[in-house]
Amino acid sequence: MRSVLHAASLDHVMATVFGARYDPASREGVELEEMVKEGYHLLGMFNWGDRLPLLKWLDLQGVRMRCRSLVGRVNVFVGKIIEEHRQNIKRIGEGEESSAGRDFVDVLLGLEGEEKLSEPDMIAVLWETIFRGTDTVAILLEWVMARMVLHRDIQAKARAELDAVVGPRGTVSDADVARLPYLQSIVKETLRVHPPGPLLSWARLAVHDAVVGGHLVPKGTTAMVNMWAIAHDPAVWADPDAFRPERFQEEEDVSVMGGDLRLAPFGAGRRVCPGKTLALATVHLWLAQMLHRFDWVPAAADDGGVVDLAERLNMSLEMEKPLVCVPRPRC
Ligand code: HEM
Repeated sequence: MRSVLHAASLDHVMATVFGARYDPASREGVELEEMVKEGYHLLGMFNWGDRLPLLKWLDLQGVRMRCRSLVGRVNVFVGKIIEEHRQNIKRIGEGEESSAGRDFVDVLLGLEGEEKLSEPDMIAVLWETIFRGTDTVAILLEWVMARMVLHRDIQAKARAELDAVVGPRGTVSDADVARLPYLQSIVKETLRVHPPGPLLSWARLAVHDAVVGGHLVPKGTTAMVNMWAIAHDPAVWADPDAFRPERFQEEEDVSVMGGDLRLAPFGAGRRVCPGKTLALATVHLWLAQMLHRFDWVPAAADDGGVVDLAERLNMSLEMEKPLVCVPRPRC
């Protein structure tokens, strides 16, 4: 599932942000995929230079050198796309017709006055959107599908809801998602048990002295918010290790959008994930379509079909053993 979901997610983000589609086999598609992979690898890597300042300058692991090289490649790649958009806007200004829709790059180029972004800032914003928006969606869907294959009763219940709302032969659309509360609870429960970004933004800086839970956090402290620990805390969640989407229907509903710190898989406050609405819309729709059309079962054991829920923390929290499963067409 991993490679399929990753390719789909990258394609989706590229279409949304850049209004561009990339054939994964094309030169540009391969380049993009490589840059995203390298970025994740570098961010997740333990760098001795972060702990021992002397080693930072020696750069024995070559981390700084690789970062510099990646920044250069990103600048060229994203800079070229911005330039293409500029030319397109110019042509439209000169009265030429354009078939391209307005995308996020056009929005950034349209900012004026104090809001106007410099070229390096624009590249940074665009790159971060691609970079943060690709893996997270694919990783979350891989966890959801692992749970669907493991808990066939939950999968069947979600499908029954889909059949009741869309009909067994209909086609699921965005508009149907609002009428699929059980499916939404499945995604919520997966975000609770397997948050793709368990350490919110990795680090936050205390800008003044603060007291948290009776402990003094002095100004200048770097702190990490461990969302995974909160979401698995028995003092916060009943039977926290059980995968039970019903908990969001039986008890008080909890928003995942950052208003309730018991479950904030997209963070909260000023640095909350700006892609959360897009992420949820995508995951809900894709999950609904996958469950509506196919019955998902584990692959044969010798094809790697044993679902193993072991976790691996890189930049995101992903499945240690990639999920292998089989879609059986329903008709
Ligand atoms: C299931 C999918 C996703 C999850 C779980 C997720 C989670 C997160 C988390 C936990 C943060 C840090 C928030 C904080 O520290 O308070 C974050 C930041 C961010 N996310 Fe997402 N995200 C997802 C999808 C997306 C998508 C689809 C996009 C863009 C299209 C995106 C763009 C960003 C950006 C740009 C930031 C950095 C914001 C900043 O530093 O101010 N994310 N995300």
